[in-house]
Amino acid sequence: MALLIRNGRIITATDDHIADVYCAGETITRIERGLDPKALPGDPKQLEVIDAAGKYVFPGFIDPHVHIYLPFMGTWAIDDYESASKAALAGGTTTLIEMICPGPKDQPWEAYQEWLSKARGIASVDFSYHMSVVRYEPEIRGQFLRIVKDGVGSFKVFLAYKGALNLNDADLFALMEQARKWGVIVTAHCENADAVAAMQEILVSSGRTGPEWHGPSRPPVVEADGVHHLCAFAELTGAHVYTVHTSCDIAVKEALAARLRGVNVWIESVIPHFVLDESYAERANFEGAQYVMSPPLRQKGNQDVLWNGVKTRTISTIATDHAPFTLEQKNMGRSAFTRIPNGIPSIQERVDLVHTYGVTRGRLGLQTMVNACSTQAAMLFGMYPKKGTIQVGSDADLVVYDPEWQGTFQKADSHSKADYNAYEGWTKQGRASVVTVRGQVQVRDGKFVGTRGTGQFVAREPTHG
Ligand code: URP
Ligand code: ZN
Ligand code: ZN
Repeated sequence: MALLIRNGRIITATDDHIADVYCAGETITRIERGLDPKALPGDPKQLEVIDAAGKYVFPGFIDPHVHIYLPFMGTWAIDDYESASKAALAGGTTTLIEMICPGPKDQPWEAYQEWLSKARGIASVDFSYHMSVVRYEPEIRGQFLRIVKDGVGSFKVFLAYKGALNLNDADLFALMEQARKWGVIVTAHCENADAVAAMQEILVSSGRTGPEWHGPSRPPVVEADGVHHLCAFAELTGAHVYTVHTSCDIAVKEALAARLRGVNVWIESVIPHFVLDESYAERANFEGAQYVMSPPLRQKGNQDVLWNGVKTRTISTIATDHAPFTLEQKNMGRSAFTRIPNGIPSIQERVDLVHTYGVTRGRLGLQTMVNACSTQAAMLFGMYPKKGTIQVGSDADLVVYDPEWQGTFQKADSHSKADYNAYEGWTKQGRASVVTVRGQVQVRDGKFVGTRGTGQFVAREPTHG
């Protein structure tokens, strides 16, 4: 099947122009004005023509921070690749990078195979992984080279979650030295694990157990300390690093200060931190549990720093940190906020939230939206220009986006198995009308019409040598 998208306004991170996009099979093969369908090669019955007049044509969006299969805090995230793919695609995301998060006793190669088995033959979105390193004894180090050679060109470390995912400093240093030699970027959850554990103990033992105490247990300085620590190790080892879900002014400033010292550090922020503030986690009757994530939702003033960081392209990416748990799972933390599974499902909502609350509010331009929600992830994680742009030779991952569509965010429309929508009832301006993955239409008029199992593993080479 071939695809011709006509008269759309093509928006990339650098360009904005009206043209037709022709895709033969899985690839973009022509971008020109006035392409005549009758003059195109092949059987006209095998050509789908999409009228994109008045609409944007974006490169498929990339979410570089997602959890789908996630054993975590005594339970498992509720989505699988079927539900998460539908949610991602309905929201215009055509490629995602999931975090492989093994337990401290698991073998890395086995964990990688386990995570692959959850996606292969089920995903309809293209997918890749960051390999979490939660242990790094000398005898298991060879497994990481094998995983990198198999196409996982990035690592993840947790400076948080003491006793669970947290990597100790000696191993962190050794890993970063190795990562620099291999050219593998190290992505990191930056919060000081010991400080969080101590603060949690103080709060819970004095009866402050509700979800509203989650934020005070890990204030901005805990995150800024984590960013500083990661950047100090990056400075010492020469490793390239990427701070995930960077949530607040002082953490961003730590990363920028390191960058000015010459540290190769890139910043990710995630959509909940741009649009939700700490008051959501303070909602009464345990409703705040729906908004418990780490780092926590912050004071509203931090949101301007994040939007402006993206606008000035000092914050590279807007991801989601999609980590979906049901209300029943959130209830595990009724007795203490430390037991509330952390995460706010957002994979379907990210792009529309950025468009509605970023672009239409004048905080971001369209090209910057594409840069942060697609192109930078492709560039940083070794997928560009196959993914992340609209060029001849790129994968035909395309989003025909209707900027005039108006509606609301609601659970009734979401594909995630989480049984609430953190943005319920909010205004939504714009939505994906057609979404293609390598030339196959997966979404029409906001509805998933794709096929289970058509998503492919995207092998990525290290690009930070
Ligand atoms: O709250 C969060 N972020 N949940 C998922 C695990 C993580 O820290 O990424
Ligand atoms: Zn995290
Ligand atoms: Zn995460």
